[in-house]
Amino acid sequence: MKLWQGRTDGETAAEADAFNSSIPFDSRMYRADIEGSIAHARMLGERGIISRGEAEILIGGLRGILSDIDSGALMIDMTAEDIHTFVEETLTERVGEVGKKLHTARSRNDQVALDIRLFLREETEKIKSAIRGLISALTDQAEAHAGTIMPGYTHLQRAQPVTFGHHLMAYAMMLLRDLGRLSDCARRMNVSPIGSCALAGTTYDTDRALEAELLGFSSVCENSLDGVSDRDFSVELLSDLSIIMMHLSRLAEETVLWTSLEFSFVELDDAYTTGSSIMPQKKNSDMAELVRGKTGRVYGSLVSLLTALKGLPLAYNKDMQEDKECVFDAVDTVKSSLSIFTGMIKTMRVKPENMRAAASGGFINATDLADYLVGRGLPFRDAYKVSGRVVARCIADGETLETLPLDVYREYCPLVGEDVYGAVDLDACVGRRRSYGGTAPESVLHQVAYVREALGE
Ligand code: ARG
Repeated sequence: MKLWQGRTDGETAAEADAFNSSIPFDSRMYRADIEGSIAHARMLGERGIISRGEAEILIGGLRGILSDIDSGALMIDMTAEDIHTFVEETLTERVGEVGKKLHTARSRNDQVALDIRLFLREETEKIKSAIRGLISALTDQAEAHAGTIMPGYTHLQRAQPVTFGHHLMAYAMMLLRDLGRLSDCARRMNVSPIGSCALAGTTYDTDRALEAELLGFSSVCENSLDGVSDRDFSVELLSDLSIIMMHLSRLAEETVLWTSLEFSFVELDDAYTTGSSIMPQKKNSDMAELVRGKTGRVYGSLVSLLTALKGLPLAYNKDMQEDKECVFDAVDTVKSSLSIFTGMIKTMRVKPENMRAAASGGFINATDLADYLVGRGLPFRDAYKVSGRVVARCIADGETLETLPLDVYREYCPLVGEDVYGAVDLDACVGRRRSYGGTAPESVLHQVAYVREALGE
């Protein structure tokens, strides 16, 4: 006999039971479910809806179930319909008839809405701390490489020299915004739906504010129909997780490029690479590739949930049971991706010589030559043209801006002096870009300090 069998007598088909069951995935929420029930029992007792003695029995039973699941003494029955049913039935088995009073002034609709919020609230905190870990790893490497010169790219063509520290700090800034987004999401998530009951509220004299307070919520949702129907917080979390993965995926792509023989800017530690079963020379960046690949599945989760919710009439519909797997999978994926990236960044070996060699080709200092000519009195547009022609000459002569003889420079602009060589020197090019947020080592160190301060370190 099912817990919900009111008007029906017939048995459900085994196939329907299996199809209907959510316990394979919602059993993860057992702690949230039991803590929610403890708060509910306490509130029922406080309001005299059940006696205080009955509330104590329920609470004692629920605590016992929680510690037995934690210790492994109680196995969750995977044939149960869902975690809510399993906990309530186990409670009644353990404490007897009074167990049947727990579900007074409650429905599984507000119960599940509560559980997901409690569960995701905790997961959001874990993700935030994983992001902090990755930001710290990036920031430490950036500090160590605040003066390491590499080519900066636009269109993946060498553009201007930057420092590796500057490049890494760009990712730290993205992740800092991700942290902020998760905090915003957590704020909207931290609103209690319990007490909305099935959809319409209840005739019992409940105290929703007390339940919310016991569970650490900052407020209660204002409309019971919305309380049981709202999954915005999951959609919002998935959006934030998608943005995190988009950021990680860009860093993953760069890691794959940097570790290729063509770039050779970085070597990953053996702990974060794999080989090939046939090509003995290989050292592959599988972890980065996997993060890049897993990004698609997090986006997929976002689209799944948006699609599952669209067009649902108020209030609860069973479609909403489909909210959990996608968000749980995304949470797991993001946590493991952040963790693997942190280890990878901490242990990677940077190759400054190769970065500098790459920065020394490709006339990456052509803008600096133009800026030098501006300093000599040429309008920027004219300086730009002269610099372009000088680059073309260098290419024809097999020279660089650092090696082109002064008399050749003067063929293109008589204003050029001996000091041009100082102007096109890579270290000088980078060191002069001290503008706020720029690539000069001192600007990078300022960014490092800014991020550490934002992290409260
Ligand atoms: N397992 C269900 C879910 O995840 C719990 C809510 C069931 N409510 C109902 N009216 N059938 O959504």
